[in-house]
Amino acid sequence: ENERTLAIVKPDGISGNYTSSIRKVILESGFSIQREVTVQLNEDSVRSFYAEHSTKSFFPNLVKYMTSGPVLIMVLQKVSAIADWRALIGPTDARKAKITHPDSIRAMCGQDLERNCVHGSDSRESASREISFFFTDTFSEGTTLKH
Ligand code: CMP
Repeated sequence: ENERTLAIVKPDGISGNYTSSIRKVILESGFSIQREVTVQLNEDSVRSFYAEHSTKSFFPNLVKYMTSGPVLIMVLQKVSAIADWRALIGPTDARKAKITHPDSIRAMCGQDLERNCVHGSDSRESASREISFFFTDTFSEGTTLKH
């Protein structure tokens, strides 16, 4: 079944110049990129986007990291987009990914558990929330970015 998922190339992915390699992997894996926009997120946007992690000890660092530079936000579409994008990016901890999933995107461009260079929605519910967090109406002309 066709699905959409939200992908983010995080600040370390952008500053490390991994954007074109990541886009190549995305297209070669059969995803279509329905929307893509580069933005500088502010602290309030990051706090709200990652609200489910607000009580975690790593939250302040996550906010610093995600506001440290521009991010590339993409809406990806294909059959089983959510699970397939998660499989392609690999485990959250990029350091582990380099060992257990050496062909994954996080193995390619991530550094550790926090600085893992990309994000992917983890469920249908998250994908729907995350896509509408950034895009008012993702699939009509004149889309406006909310954050
Ligand atoms: P992401 O998949 O975007 O979702 C939450 C982010 O928080 C995660 O990637 C990492 O960037 C970061 N994160 C998750 N767990 C930890 C952790 N235990 N310590 C530090 N950062 C984390």
